[in-house]
Amino acid sequence: MPATIREVTPGDAPRIAAGEYATAQTPGLLNAMPGEIPEAAFREKIESLQKASRGLYAAAEIGQDIAGHVLLEPMLLAANAHVCDLTIVVYPPWQGRGLGKQLLTYAIAWARSNPHVEKIELKVRASNARALALYRSLGFQEEGRLRKRVKERNGYLADIAMALFVDEPGTGAESIHLCRAESATVHVGWLTSTGGRRSLSIA
Ligand SMILES: CC(C)(COP(=O)(O)OP(=O)(O)OC[C@H]1O[C@@H](n2cnc3c(N)ncnc32)[C@H](O)[C@@H]1OP(=O)(O)O)[C@@H](O)C(=O)NCCC(=O)NCCS
Repeated sequence: MPATIREVTPGDAPRIAAGEYATAQTPGLLNAMPGEIPEAAFREKIESLQKASRGLYAAAEIGQDIAGHVLLEPMLLAANAHVCDLTIVVYPPWQGRGLGKQLLTYAIAWARSNPHVEKIELKVRASNARALALYRSLGFQEEGRLRKRVKERNGYLADIAMALFVDEPGTGAESIHLCRAESATVHVGWLTSTGGRRSLSIA
């Protein structure tokens, strides 16, 4: 399935909001109910991350469709600004086909190329087996369990806090490759780390 991963623009906000609302129709995956976050908030987030230049908002495009998105949001205060919060959503028709792995690999490679980012954090419901498998497969480790963090109609669910230290040895800093397939062409990116500076190259 050829997908192109690219940074989004404010004009993508309606399609991203629609994709997230469609995903939220399935209970137990996302915190926001369908439509709970207004479309304008998606646009504002894209604009603010573009301005910050320390955050990432990227989407996977398949033909004319946006099939999913990934965000890395830097924390606001100086003491935590080396930490980014991760959000990833693959929309229903495209789930389970490797796109989540492609988007997350892209985000990790981006983080590794950005000298300000040292740690990526996320929270995932303890019941979200696919998301947990994805995060573990790319080196995220559990940092704790937040009990009763999600309230649903039938009771409570725990969130698992997970994190990846982007330069930690053993998490494959040099082996994470950014793969981008466009039509019949596959572009492969690689990461280099020299004297503490990280850079991302795309062939
Ligand atoms: C979670 C999500 C991002 C994963 O993306 P995806 O494209 O569906 O998943 P992928 O096809 O890339 O598969 C990722 C890994 O999960 C595994 N996996 C797939 N389906 C699975 C399932 N039902 N149970 C357990 N593992 C599963 C795959 O084997 C793969 O691991 P591998 O490459 O080591 O074999 C996507 O399903 C999604 O957006 N879901 C709804 C929103 C959501 O849950 N977001 C995360 C909130 S924390």
